[in-house]
Amino acid sequence: MTGTCQHRMKKDVVYLDNAATTYPKPKQVLLAMQRFMVRTSGSPGRSGHRLSLDAGRVMLDTRTALAALFGVADPLRIVLTKNATEALNIAVCGLLKPGDHAVTSSMEHNSLMRPLRAMEARGVGLSIVPCSPEGLLDPADVIRVIRAETKAIFLTHASNVTGTIMPIADVGGIARERGLIFCVDAAQTAGVLPIDVEAMTIDLLAFTGHKSLFGPQGTGGLYIRRGLEKKIAPVMTGGTGSRSEFEQQPDFMPDRYEAGTPNTVGYAGLEAAVRYVMGQGVEKIRAHEQKLTRLFLDGLEDADVEKVYGLKDPSRQAAIVSFRLRGADPAETAQQLDERFRILCRPGLHCAPSAHRTIGSYPLGTVRFSFGYFNTVGHVRAALEAVKQLSAGISSIRRQNNLRRKR
Ligand code: ALA
Repeated sequence: MTGTCQHRMKKDVVYLDNAATTYPKPKQVLLAMQRFMVRTSGSPGRSGHRLSLDAGRVMLDTRTALAALFGVADPLRIVLTKNATEALNIAVCGLLKPGDHAVTSSMEHNSLMRPLRAMEARGVGLSIVPCSPEGLLDPADVIRVIRAETKAIFLTHASNVTGTIMPIADVGGIARERGLIFCVDAAQTAGVLPIDVEAMTIDLLAFTGHKSLFGPQGTGGLYIRRGLEKKIAPVMTGGTGSRSEFEQQPDFMPDRYEAGTPNTVGYAGLEAAVRYVMGQGVEKIRAHEQKLTRLFLDGLEDADVEKVYGLKDPSRQAAIVSFRLRGADPAETAQQLDERFRILCRPGLHCAPSAHRTIGSYPLGTVRFSFGYFNTVGHVRAALEAVKQLSAGISSIRRQNNLRRKR
């Protein structure tokens, strides 16, 4: 599985923070970025000379690869952004106007929640549908909050806290039946769960390049269904290399949303990354991550764990497991895992306070392990062994403290 074609993980760490950013990256990604820096390096769509044209081709090739992955017929419907947050800001702030109403779930990341709250402060109505303690949304609860002014539904594909996969196709159907715009945050799923914007009736798809697509940081994008650009104002305007005679932003895709010289070297890496994902196959990547998640969840049953959050069903969650050791602060647990065992994970609130309130882990949060395609069974075993040793140590301190108290 971990074969020949990626840079190896540093030998002295076990990286289990793939929900934050995947590591390592496929070797092709690094080579493509190096090739761009050495051989291309022109500014795309600007100058018209051969290096500029080469850079323009990199941008188009990246859109083409992403379009193929997400079932998008026209690559020019893909806006390239610096991350999922920028994509969500275009979707939320460009679309909603005072008096509109929007629907979202209580499991959202701040990349969506903050722009929604900012628009709420400007007069947009907002309904946050509560999810179950496992982080699951009931589509019937979405129907209940829809009203005449509702314009759009914004929903994560999978929670970055529990991995819980949301009923995207069902909610997409609800949106389509009622003429609402459906925006999906695929930050945790692009590259590892199948996404077809037509089959799932997704109108706007925000994604990042540096997680399960294995691209570099500073890359991401937004798919915009044909015609919706008329309803979505750009959140940033500026030079595009097109229609230089006008001081107004071009109204065509994707230039309307791509102001300023882009991160072309990053997109060169992203294209290679997407081709790598398609070469491996999303199903194969998912199957490997699911296997690791199952192994970890099963192993946790033998540790002195206070709680494992989420569905605890690898087939219904991304490769993310949030838990807490009995009597231990998650931040302290993660620090010990790093210092004593060189196991790297992410504790706390994961930029998703509402999700933690939903699952009952606010304000301390959880210890989050997130597995990636380049993790091995050996990594999971090492992680379990470390968790067990830590939990045994904490239990023994607790027993000693109890004895002292009794004396
Ligand atoms: N959203 C990323 C995470 O969950 C950064 O860690």
